[in-house]
Amino acid sequence: MHPVRRSSARLALRELTSDDIDAVFAIYGDAEATKHLSFEPRTREQVGQIVARSITSATAEPRNEYALAVVVQDTQELIGFGRIALDPHQQRGATFGFALRPDTWGAGYGLETVRLLLGLGFEDLGLHRVWGGRSPLNEASAKTMAAAGMVEEGTIREHIQKAGRWRDSIVHAMLEREWAASR
Ligand SMILES: CC(C)(COP(=O)(O)OP(=O)(O)OC[C@H]1O[C@@H](n2cnc3c(N)ncnc32)[C@H](O)[C@@H]1OP(=O)(O)O)[C@@H](O)C(=O)NCCC(=O)NCCS
Repeated sequence: MHPVRRSSARLALRELTSDDIDAVFAIYGDAEATKHLSFEPRTREQVGQIVARSITSATAEPRNEYALAVVVQDTQELIGFGRIALDPHQQRGATFGFALRPDTWGAGYGLETVRLLLGLGFEDLGLHRVWGGRSPLNEASAKTMAAAGMVEEGTIREHIQKAGRWRDSIVHAMLEREWAASR
């Protein structure tokens, strides 16, 4: 599916363009935004490569990755990055992730973003199961996924290596029937 266009009350998901590098860098290059993510803050050059890869993967056939801009509808300002990646080893399953620029936190945009991504996954892509893994210390992510109705399923032990140390991931998931019931 290309291009993706989904909107909620205040936000929209759209495809990334090469003009988005600085706005994505304001998230992926930020120490606070990446504190609980699986990687250290990215350089601007690395973000440029991520955006370029995302643009290329958007038109791949079949499309297995949806790396998207989260924008405020009123201003079209990019405030977040969301991603759904189809799992090649699971039928109609995908993993997802999301991050917003820190100055926008606490206004309900996180929940709106998670719902937009789940809506894309279940309604447009026909997925059966969408899951995300978070750091055990990432309370904001835990609350946001719980608020969206995702179920905490358990722990993947020593799932992520960051700064030379292994870190567990806590799995939150939603099934298509749970999404349908939450609508
Ligand atoms: C996770 C993230 C997207 C949340 O965004 P947000 O816009 O602040 O979230 P919302 O305002 O929609 O809040 C959603 C819920 O999380 C709670 N929450 C948000 N930040 C919180 C924090 N720092 N500590 C505790 N709870 C928090 C809110 O109270 C709300 O819960 P409620 O519905 O029970 O009141 C944002 O913190 C972020 O981008 N973090 C960095 C990247 C990241 O960790 N991504 C997730 C990877 S697994």
